[in-house]
Order: sequence, then C-alpha cells, then structure tokens
Amino acid sequence: MIQRLVVFGGTGDLMGRYLLPGLAALQSRGHLPAGFEVVGAARDDWDDDRFRSWAARWLERDAAGVDPAAAAALVRASRYRRIDLGDPASVTACLAGEGPVAAYLALPPAVFPIAVSALDRAGIPADSQVVLEKPFGDDLDSARALNRLLAQGFDERHVFRVDHFLAMTTVQNVLGTRLANRVLEPIWTSAHIEEIEIVWDETLAVEGRAGYYDHVGALKDMVQNHLLQLLCLVAMEPPISLGERDLRDRKVDVLRSVRPLQAHDVAVRTRRARYRAGRVGGSEVPAYVDEEGVTPEHGTETFAEVVLELDSWRWSGTTFRLRTGKALVRDRKEILVRFRAVPHHPFDRPQGPSPNLLRFGLDPEDLRLELTGTGPGATLSLVPLVLTADLQPPELPAYARILLDVLGGDTTLSIRGDEAEQAWRIVAPVLEGWSRDLAPLEEYDAGSSGPERRVLT
Ligand code: BG6
Repeated sequence: MIQRLVVFGGTGDLMGRYLLPGLAALQSRGHLPAGFEVVGAARDDWDDDRFRSWAARWLERDAAGVDPAAAAALVRASRYRRIDLGDPASVTACLAGEGPVAAYLALPPAVFPIAVSALDRAGIPADSQVVLEKPFGDDLDSARALNRLLAQGFDERHVFRVDHFLAMTTVQNVLGTRLANRVLEPIWTSAHIEEIEIVWDETLAVEGRAGYYDHVGALKDMVQNHLLQLLCLVAMEPPISLGERDLRDRKVDVLRSVRPLQAHDVAVRTRRARYRAGRVGGSEVPAYVDEEGVTPEHGTETFAEVVLELDSWRWSGTTFRLRTGKALVRDRKEILVRFRAVPHHPFDRPQGPSPNLLRFGLDPEDLRLELTGTGPGATLSLVPLVLTADLQPPELPAYARILLDVLGGDTTLSIRGDEAEQAWRIVAPVLEGWSRDLAPLEEYDAGSSGPERRVLT
C-alpha cells in the first residue's frame, strides 16, 4: 500500500471538505498503513505548523464523527510543501522520498495538463499513482489530449479519474440488488421498464464556488460524469466479475450505446436553466447571476435535464432521464425505475395507484419498492403497498473509499480513459446545440421545483 499522499492544491476546499475527513475516517478504522504521510502542496507561503492548524480546523468542522485521537494522528502525519508547477525543481523536491506516491490533483481542471507534465518532468517515482478530479477535460478534444498526455508518463493502471458517486453505498447497491437476486434481472429490460430517472436535485446553491462553477455549469459538473456513471451501473449488462476490466468494459458498452442527440433532439430532449433570487428552506438565496464571481454573459446553467435513449437489444424503447439542479425546493437524489403498467386489469376500477416504482435513494440512502395490492375494504379495491429496505449507514464516507482504493492501487471504481471520452461524446452535441441556443436558457426561482417547461420525449 502506498504510504505517501501528495495533494496538489492541498490548501483548497476539496482537501478540507472531503480528503482530510476521508483520511481521518480511514485512520480511525485502522486502514492507513504504518508511517503514512499526507503532504499538502500548494503555492501559498505556508509552513508545516500553519498547514497542520488549518487541517485541524477542517477536521473539527467536517469530520465530526471521527475519533479525535485519529484526527490528531492524521494532523501529526501531515506536512506542507510550497510548490510552483512551473518550477520542476520545486515539484521534484516535493515528491522526493522513499517509494511510490499518490499524487492527487485537487486543482482546477484547466491546470491538469500543466500538473501532469510537471509530474512527468519532475521524475515521479516508479509505480506512483496520479489522481484527477472531474471534470476530466473540458470537451472531447481536451479529454483526448489529456489522456494522451497521461499515457506518456503513466500506465493506465496507475491513473485514477475520480468519481466519488461510484463509492456511495446505494450506488453500489444498484449492482448488488440487480446482480445478487433472481427477481430483478429478468424484468430489467425495456419490455418491463418504461423510464429510468436519474435525478440529483439539490437545495444547495452555488454558495462560494462560482469561481469554478461559472466555467463549468450543471451539464459538465454533474451530467457528464456522475449521472452518466449512474446510468452505466443501472443499464450495464451483468459483468463476468467485478474486477476493474469486466466492470469498466460493461460500463463503456452502455456509454457507446447512447444514441447521439441530433440538433432537433437538443431542442426537445434537453433543457437548461439558472436560478433567480428566492428562498430555500427559509433562507434568502441571491440570483445566480448576483453570486460573487459569476459573469452573467457566460450563460452558465444551474439546472440541466437530458433525455437519452440506448441503442441496444435490452434497452431500445426505454427512456433515461438525467436531471440535476441547484437551489431547488427539496433535495431529491435518486434513481427511479418506472415499470410499465400491467397489460390487463381484471379489477372493476383499475384506476388508482400508478405502475410499480423501484427507488434507489442516494442521499439519504434508502431502497423502496412501490407495488399495488388490494385494500381491506368490503369490495376489492387497489391500494399502494410500499416495501422499504432498512439500509445500514455506510461504514466509510465516499471519499474515504476512493482514497483507500488509490492507496491500495485498485482502479475498479475509477473512470477509465475511454469511458471519459465516451461521456464527452454524449454531451458534445448538447453543448454545441446550447451554444447555438437550440434550447433556450430558462430561469426558475430559487426554492422552486425548477423551470416549468416539460422536456418532450
Ligand atoms: C460534486 C459537484 O462533484 O458533487 C457539486 O461538483 C455537487 O456541484 C456534489 O454538489 C454532490 O455530491 P456530494 O457528495 O457533495 O453531495
């Protein structure tokens, strides 16, 4: 197991909010190897002490459930290196030491190519891992270029393109419930399933992240990566094993089967919108365009919806609706499988509960199956029956699981280079169509359920 994690961009939000708490969770459960060291590398003129007190503050805030002794041990195991990616000597000095390292690029995506070249030039130790956050590139061409650059310095088995959604336990339960039971897989086809919705609606607004978000928008921030990954797990053919090759091959098959959207489809099967001022959960939220760091002329969307179809034997005839938005009225984070209605109803008054639904709740995590049965009344009438699974809370937060895989060299949950490119292939016509205004940029009030116009299918 790798003993040294070097986080480039080590004084940033991702490090404080996700990586340090993830490492603390690993530390408290005894998953970190003896002698483990975490190095924060950034341009700031800091020293070890300043970095350690900064880290301790984040841990107090965001790793509340972690044993304080474990958090303190992690702080002791951390140090700081000042680097300048344009100065190879500073990167070499930062990487110097015994054995391979995991170089985590917690950097703005535009800096990835510079950072990858800098690692290569600096002579990163053999068998080191390089870890990249999303979005991987900015479009298909830049993703291809970045893949080529990575291939010059790293074997693909050492490259981790992170998508923390894949480490969420209910996301993994999509595979668990599909593949470990007899009852679901035979009806997991377009003959029985009308639509699958993959939804990540947040009450959270952009809140201080405009510097990143205004260059990205909902489609690239969420759909191109997280939601398409969920689509892969929901729609994939059963893999032979859950090894990295089998799993990722089957995921790529799904992405390759997504029918490319034509200009006409962009107009009727996609929508984009941004929020106006409003109230979310009792608090005032300023309009997106009034958030600090937003350039209104960028026309960045905070809401995106795309309806896709898959050209495959299993899925021809099912629609896949991917949707995400910020500053909405409620958190709705789920995969909803909507089964078709029964072919014939022998009941007198068949109208009533809707067709069956299977819901994978992603946050909070739950699993719910909606069936229809008959009620206790004097005449036979239909009533909803709901089965809910009691899910244990996850043992580790998603980022802890990601870091454990990085340190242990397991790429199963990381995105392979061709997957990233295929995902860009799917969103490219949408981006292109939006740049030609084929789907207008709509608006919705913060705290509402989103823009009004329905997407046609
Ligand atoms: C991130 C996106 O990857 O995922 C955010 O950049 C989004 O915009 C977040 O809010 C959702 O995941 P989590 O785990 O932070 O709820």
